[in-house]
Amino acid sequence: MRLGILGSGKGSNLGAILRAIQAGELDATVVVAISDVPGAGILDLASDAGIPTHTLVEPRYKSRLSAEVEAELVSVLQAAEVDLVVLAGYMRVVKAPLLEAFPRRVINIHPSLLPDFRGREAWRQALEAGVEKTGCTVHYVDAGVDTGEILAQAEVPLIPGDTPESLHARIQAAEHHLYPSVIRQLAKENR
Ligand code: GAR
Repeated sequence: MRLGILGSGKGSNLGAILRAIQAGELDATVVVAISDVPGAGILDLASDAGIPTHTLVEPRYKSRLSAEVEAELVSVLQAAEVDLVVLAGYMRVVKAPLLEAFPRRVINIHPSLLPDFRGREAWRQALEAGVEKTGCTVHYVDAGVDTGEILAQAEVPLIPGDTPESLHARIQAAEHHLYPSVIRQLAKENR
């Protein structure tokens, strides 16, 4: 299965996917890594692993891509013959052009037990709400914000003294197991 990764941040989930591939646990290839943030860590990580990268430059909007830039994103993914688009810390809303080009082929990981705590800094939302447990969710992407069909979840309990940083670090550790395992399942079904 040919994976196209899209992320805005440091790329630790890309790192986990690459480790699973290297360990022979995931029968997939990352064929392109794309970021909307010039200089994002995810681009360096991909380059270091010999993966082609592409940077999207969006001067107009912060929370979405303009139509031209989203069309560029679709053409980069299509040129790389991507089977599955994997959002890994991508912080903009995805629109119809991408979803129509890759129907049921775009997945995301979100740092909460959806439907709870959609949107940004979901770990901070969970801490402020005082819940006993939170976690992470892998889901298909639809036109809403963190609303698509859920594929899998992993729970992470809160512990006394948790800070936003400590909680997010434990959620990320759970993400690094969950995301490769869901992609492995989708790769098996794709064969
Ligand atoms: C992850 O925790 C991911 O769940 C979150 O961004 C982080 C990216 O980390 N995504 C969202 O909040 C999407 N709404 P990474 O760059 O180290 O993979």
